[in-house]
Amino acid sequence: MAHNQETVLDDYSFLVSETDSKGIIKFANEDFCKIAGYDVEDLIGKPHNMVRHNDMPRAAFKDLWQTVQRGDIWDGYVKNATKDGGYYWVYATVYPFESSDGSKGFLSCRRKATKEEIEEHISLYKEWKMQE
Ligand SMILES: Cc1cc2nc3c(=O)[nH]c(=O)nc-3n(C[C@H](O)[C@H](O)[C@H](O)COP(=O)(O)O)c2cc1C
Repeated sequence: MAHNQETVLDDYSFLVSETDSKGIIKFANEDFCKIAGYDVEDLIGKPHNMVRHNDMPRAAFKDLWQTVQRGDIWDGYVKNATKDGGYYWVYATVYPFESSDGSKGFLSCRRKATKEEIEEHISLYKEWKMQE
């Protein structure tokens, strides 16, 4: 995939990742690794902002963190960067959870965003970016 190219998810893609309470990646499933272009070993132990795309406004992640840290479920649209400099859009749902050992963490489940949803968020996030 060439630089700055979009990867369009198929209808069945389901990208899952898990972090600790600080956003360090603990787990990523095969779909996440495949679309992002990383081996799972490259991701585990890294902060989740390693897949952050520069077009994403800070306000989106501020809202994500505020929501899950108070114990609520966040959902929203995210543009992520791939290892080779491309990108992909997802609709993400992020859940706070507690493991059986008592440690707290977060789980993100992502599926394909529609063309319309993507268009809408390109303009919205452009506006938010201009306010930064
Ligand atoms: C479970 C979980 C999944 C996340 N997934 C992503 C993601 O796919 N892409 C992303 O850019 N940030 C993701 N984040 C947010 C990052 O932790 C981070 O806040 C964001 O990339 C912005 O970087 P910054 O906080 O260093 O400014 C996730 C956070 C959590 C808790």
